[in-house]
Amino acid sequence: EETGKSGYDHFMLKEIHEQPRALRQCLRGRVDEMAGTVDIEDLADLSPSGVQFVACGTSYHAALYGAQLFRDAGIPAQAFLASEYATAVPPIGEALVVGVTQSGETADTLSALRAARKRGARTMAVTNVVGSTAARECDHAFYIRAGPEIGVAATKTFSSQLTALNLLALGMTNTQEAREVITALRELPGNVQRILDESNAEEVAETYEHSDAYFFIGRGYQFPVALEGALKMKEITYKHAEGFASGELKHGPLALVTQNTPVFAVVTGDGEQARKTLGNVKEVEARDAPVVAITDGQSEVERYADHVLELPETHPRAAAVLANTHLQLVSYHVASLLGRNIDKPRNLAKSVTVE
Ligand code: G6P
Repeated sequence: EETGKSGYDHFMLKEIHEQPRALRQCLRGRVDEMAGTVDIEDLADLSPSGVQFVACGTSYHAALYGAQLFRDAGIPAQAFLASEYATAVPPIGEALVVGVTQSGETADTLSALRAARKRGARTMAVTNVVGSTAARECDHAFYIRAGPEIGVAATKTFSSQLTALNLLALGMTNTQEAREVITALRELPGNVQRILDESNAEEVAETYEHSDAYFFIGRGYQFPVALEGALKMKEITYKHAEGFASGELKHGPLALVTQNTPVFAVVTGDGEQARKTLGNVKEVEARDAPVVAITDGQSEVERYADHVLELPETHPRAAAVLANTHLQLVSYHVASLLGRNIDKPRNLAKSVTVE
């Protein structure tokens, strides 16, 4: 096992560092930057009238992001927690049902996909494992090509899922922004590498190691990142953490905010969304909560932040992957300072095969 870690203390850290390679593998042969097109072979012909995503855990956060990609391209799309979908299958119509599952073996997700098939839906697995149950049972499979992931907490498979979902959405829809997104995707592995080399996440972790709780906020494509940031923190540090849509903070969670609950705010660009999230950050700062801004510096959020985790200027879809990389490192370092069993957190399993 020790040799498998290639000198890293944990598989999780190794896998965080493998992300540039994993993303290159995911993109390989599938993008033509010159032409501004992607090649997802026969999947491009599916042209569904709607998409329903089903997934659990980290993959559900990728599914939320995926649904937004399709909605942005004008296709009605929703993400469902697989266990809820299987409990009460929503009307499917002509929608394509997509299971996002790293392992391809999660019982809740398989059950949701089976329920959809029973209703006559076409199904697709977005998975890391060739020959997995989801890949075999679905009509179509799209592989994220992240390579094996040993750490229980999903890291490189999440960023590979986001990347793969971008390729799917670009390949299956017509979006005005295609060229811009493709360029951002091509730059993504190098940008992730830069964050791995330069992130001050460890210093942030040292500052907030003993906090009561950790909150994460984001809007649009950064909302699933906030949810994932919190899930990672819970999984490996056993500390209380919650992710919220920025706009929801004032509808309740703000009551939880104190001097001892850092709020991690992902803010990119300088448009309407950034301006609104900035307003939410000011509300937090006014209540004396420490603010950690994950930002490309285009908004004024730095003025209200105690710490900044820097992002390069890029498309918001790519910024989500980059922001997540910083947050993976923060959680990793908090867990490491607390001496947690990072690769095998208590009570959790890599793949859950019961409902
Ligand atoms: C387990 C793992 C999570 C993972 C979830 C879904 O709960 O601990 O890290 O996100 O399963 O796994 P899947 O293989 O379907 O993506």
